[in-house]
Amino acid sequence: DALEQQRQDLEGFQIIAHRGASGHAPEHTWPAYDQALAMGADYLELDVHMSADGQLIAIHDTTLDRTTDGQGPVKDHDLDELKTLDAGSWFNEAHPEHANDAYAGAELLTLDEVIDRYGQDVRYYIETKSPKDYPELQDALVSKLEADGLVQSGSVVIQSFSQASLKEVHDLNPDIPLVQLLWYSPSEDGKTLEEWTGVTPSPADITDADFQAIADYADGVGPNYLYDGQPVIDADFIDQAHSNGLLVHVYTINEKDQMRQLLDWSVDGLFTNFPDRLKDVREE
Ligand code: G3P
Ligand code: CA
Repeated sequence: DALEQQRQDLEGFQIIAHRGASGHAPEHTWPAYDQALAMGADYLELDVHMSADGQLIAIHDTTLDRTTDGQGPVKDHDLDELKTLDAGSWFNEAHPEHANDAYAGAELLTLDEVIDRYGQDVRYYIETKSPKDYPELQDALVSKLEADGLVQSGSVVIQSFSQASLKEVHDLNPDIPLVQLLWYSPSEDGKTLEEWTGVTPSPADITDADFQAIADYADGVGPNYLYDGQPVIDADFIDQAHSNGLLVHVYTINEKDQMRQLLDWSVDGLFTNFPDRLKDVREE
């Protein structure tokens, strides 16, 4: 069936368009998603927060300030307020080389709107953000996906840094493929992996038991590749994840040399702001 087909497809290589084609257009807007699909992305990556009135909103940050002309936490605003904001002009100012007048005034989007537009023809790689801020997020998300038939159509992967969030999704619907995000930071300034997930904080130290604890509920892991410009995972990390039955989808890879390196190490997918570059590298 379609779900089985999705699992088979996940064994191959996945181009995951990070916030859409967010190197080319303002993240989490129609232009970013449309361009990602036109470039041949296998999955649209969506970060999801909740509005004050309980709508699932596609936005990366907890607050509105960086990517819109609004201010403050997403969760302090109702959807009708969020829909008045301009989520595109910041991109033209920040990235003049990719600026386009059509991006000005781009709207924030709800998950409902995204699913209404693309339906089951597209695969979505949805991240539950800040689950502690929105205890009801998992339930709302899984209910929405089930109501639209997107689990059984093999159209969705759910990812999170929060182990608790993924375990809750797994309890709600064990058919949904899950990816445990990992953040490796050698610096004491950053959050340790233990704070994020309750698992071992260093890739060098990660044990088979740690990977097996993740494999109890998830299909894969999603580690960062670089910290402060330096690689924090290597071929051994990827081999060890594989030998524990876990896929490895690495974020966020925008340079072709790094794409080639990670492909050489047999990663199963990459999150990228430039799906076109990754497609080119795959075809070399
Ligand atoms: O979801 C993978 C990657 O996007 C995690 O980092 O901060 O871009 O959501 P972030
Ligand atoms: Ca993300």
